[in-house]
Amino acid sequence: MTDIKKGLAGVTVDETAVSKVNPETNSLLYRGYPVQELAATQPFEAVAYLLWNGELPDAAQLADLRRIERQHRSLSDDVRAVIDLLPTSVHPMDEVRTAVSAIGARETAGISNVMDAVGTPEENLERSVRLWAQLPAVVAYGQRRRRGEELIEPRDDLDYSANFLWMTFGEQADEVVVDAFNRSMILYAEHSFNASTFTARVIASTLSDLYSAVVGAIGALKGPLHGGANEAVLHVFTEIGSAENVGPWLDTALAEKRKIMGFGHRVYKRGDSRVPTMKAALDTLVAHYDRPDVAALYDALESQFVERKGIYPNLDYPSGPAYDLIGFDTLTFTPLFVAARVTGWTAHIREQQSSNALIRPLSAYVGPDERHVEGYVPDAADVEAQERPEEAAG
Ligand code: COA
Repeated sequence: MTDIKKGLAGVTVDETAVSKVNPETNSLLYRGYPVQELAATQPFEAVAYLLWNGELPDAAQLADLRRIERQHRSLSDDVRAVIDLLPTSVHPMDEVRTAVSAIGARETAGISNVMDAVGTPEENLERSVRLWAQLPAVVAYGQRRRRGEELIEPRDDLDYSANFLWMTFGEQADEVVVDAFNRSMILYAEHSFNASTFTARVIASTLSDLYSAVVGAIGALKGPLHGGANEAVLHVFTEIGSAENVGPWLDTALAEKRKIMGFGHRVYKRGDSRVPTMKAALDTLVAHYDRPDVAALYDALESQFVERKGIYPNLDYPSGPAYDLIGFDTLTFTPLFVAARVTGWTAHIREQQSSNALIRPLSAYVGPDERHVEGYVPDAADVEAQERPEEAAG
């Protein structure tokens, strides 16, 4: 009997130097640094640099990355035209996926030999930086377009997080809001071999290009068992309404065997290491916007669900209400995750390319036994192929 590892649970498929998740110590390290320390001290640009280059930048390196990031902040006319072809009713993850596909097609135009698509390590670092720099414009324009608002041009005097908020809302955000948002970007940036990162690595392993790998990763992230959960948390909050309703709501949800979004994790079984940092950021937003009702609902659902099921919140649980307080539409939450995680994805794509092995697992066949099309008479080539089955396998 073949030993099947359904969902690849517990399977170690490769090495990585990008990040380390340790469920025993409840820690997450990016290139060796605890994520909590990075979120408390660094701008997101520095963490992006760390993920790509392995070290935190010095002042000159950070200034250089910021200069390049600012150069690519504007939404190009042709990417905007592609987005505008989509009805505003499409899910924003489909919009972001389409925009990245358009950006990639444009950036790799002229590469007609498929063997050249993969690019050099240097080209792929430049592509990673440019793609990361362009995503806030895509996400911000998406939200504005759905609200019937005009595109806002970027501001050169603002850092990444402040500019992202500026392009979304058209006003300069308070420092406390920028800080909470910056922390969320850092916490979402990287998380080892999660489903979307693994998807990106599978695509990269075929020597396809970086953009194709990111497009595939966005598709994987859209699912509610992965990135879509932050959006789903807000639906749960809206459904419950207020802290007093948590008990009866939970009775019904558990009786119906519903999965409560924002709780549980494939790797962390005793709590997600990123939650306390994001919860602290949420607390600052609750105070800033004077919304104790949000904190009350958050605490009531967390404590009652943990007490009854022993399943702890994941990062999506505090980030959903935090993004809601900042003013993002619920539908924009997972695209924000894309804007952050593109740093981790591209770091992994480049790592995969640097020591590549085609990712191609096996499967245990459970379909019908061999049978034949009625009336078919095999020719000599078929007979030969059936005698050498390993060569016929794709
Ligand atoms: N709500 C209710 N029950 C949950 C749960 C949740 N959020 N998460 C796990 N469980 C229960 C399952 O129903 C299952 O119970 P059972 O053994 O009685 O069938 C048990 O816990 C194990 O869950 P399972 O889904 O098999 O574990 P997993 O490791 O495959 O799942 C997740 C991990 C993340 C897919 C899962 O916890 C989940 O669906 N969470 C909600 C979505 C979410 O927040 N995703 C974001 C992840 S960062």
